[in-house]
Amino acid sequence: MTATARTEALLHIQASTVEAAHQLPDVTLKTRREFSGWILSLRGEKKDEAMDYSDLRHKPRIFERIAIAGFLIVLCTLITKQSLGSNGTNVFSRHELGVTHVLITGGAGYIGSHAALRLLKDSYRVTIVDNLSRGNIGAIKVLQSLFPQPGRLQFIFADLGDAKTVDKIFSENAFDAVMHFAAVAYVGESTLEPLRYYHNITANTLVVLEAMVRHGVKTLIYSSTCATYGEPEKMPITEETPQFPINPYGKAKKMAEDIILDFSKNSNMAVMILRYFNVIGSDPEGRLGEAPRPELREHGRISGACFDAALSIIPGLKVKGTDYPTRDGTCIRDYIDVTDLVDAHVKALEKARPKRVGIYNVGTGKGRSVKEFVDACKKATGADIKVEYLSRRPGDYAEVYSDPSKINRELNWTAQHTNLLESLSIAWRWQKSHRNGYSSP
Ligand SMILES: NC(=O)c1ccc[n+]([C@@H]2O[C@H](COP(=O)([O-])OP(=O)(O)OC[C@H]3O[C@@H](n4cnc5c(N)ncnc54)[C@H](O)[C@@H]3O)[C@@H](O)[C@H]2O)c1
Repeated sequence: MTATARTEALLHIQASTVEAAHQLPDVTLKTRREFSGWILSLRGEKKDEAMDYSDLRHKPRIFERIAIAGFLIVLCTLITKQSLGSNGTNVFSRHELGVTHVLITGGAGYIGSHAALRLLKDSYRVTIVDNLSRGNIGAIKVLQSLFPQPGRLQFIFADLGDAKTVDKIFSENAFDAVMHFAAVAYVGESTLEPLRYYHNITANTLVVLEAMVRHGVKTLIYSSTCATYGEPEKMPITEETPQFPINPYGKAKKMAEDIILDFSKNSNMAVMILRYFNVIGSDPEGRLGEAPRPELREHGRISGACFDAALSIIPGLKVKGTDYPTRDGTCIRDYIDVTDLVDAHVKALEKARPKRVGIYNVGTGKGRSVKEFVDACKKATGADIKVEYLSRRPGDYAEVYSDPSKINRELNWTAQHTNLLESLSIAWRWQKSHRNGYSSP
């Protein structure tokens, strides 16, 4: 990593939270080493990269020493300025009239980063907490470059499974609301690693909720999923549809919902639970996109698979099941554009009221077949994607789509980006120009 990159990163990462990097099981070794590297080289303790320091010990050169000291002073001043207001106090640590400070957990991920972009655009103050196990530091850098002003955005590298660190974050920051996106979120993976899912989703939600209670944070917007409904007999799915999840992912989310709902019965907290359907698309201005870890591809979502096929990363698409009782025999799903989804979050935040719980499906209300999706994907990418039609995959249900009338009525929200081809074309533009996700090409 270059000195400039290291400096840039340091400007935006609170030194106090860097310690947490050493405790994170999920974070790749490289990331951990980079983070330790940043802080150690600031202190002048790192031996391999900070060669100039050991050189200096052997050959004291006064001018170089002065230059290095000067550089460090400027660096520290910049770091401090980044989070300090004009009166010298940390703006993130105090409530400010007219400014809503939102903690976004999982803000380095796909949906969380889009939500952060929208909130920042709407003048919210944003703190992102993420352990980068699945998210991208590149997304954080994009957000920081768009909103570099002091007091707008801070990134805290931490794991929500570490209750002590989470508590410290809440004690050092004055949050007005929490949008809790952070989660592992692949149905297939959840069947292979159920304990990881219960821990990461259910237990970590409890950690966040407890910290909110201890530190008097009064508003929670929770990311839930249509997977909590399982295989309902009747379509469309309303919020009254019984929840019988059929995989650990859906069950872990349902348990987290239950914890929040039980707690809400005797609390003043304003709670909104949003159950998303299948999320697609990306920022129409091409600043952010969806960039899951390559190793998650096999568990991946249909849009990811479609773009991978268009980029020849995978040989083609496998459509499983052509004999479902649907209009063209393939499964039907409800695809919601991420721009609409984050709009639903902003509306939920605006309408959240103490002692009230709102539960909403966030979908378009229209089902699209896998075949329709694949056709739109072929058109959007212009690629001649090879499609293999196979027999059904056990556990897949024929149709899943939402009834969004409650959220239309109560939050005045309606999906606006319902043209599949348009959503996929926008996402494809980003994918095409970011073949390696947020890493350099
Ligand atoms: N993408 C969808 O189609 C979809 C559908 C329904 C619900 N959801 C929900 O939306 C939320 C966001 O999903 P996404 O698609 O953006 O996923 P994502 O993997 O892109 O983002 C999740 C983020 O959470 C972070 N994270 C995970 N565990 C963490 C931990 N212990 N501590 C700190 N950070 C942690 C990851 O590093 C990542 O940045 C999830 O709660 C998911 O269940 C997503």
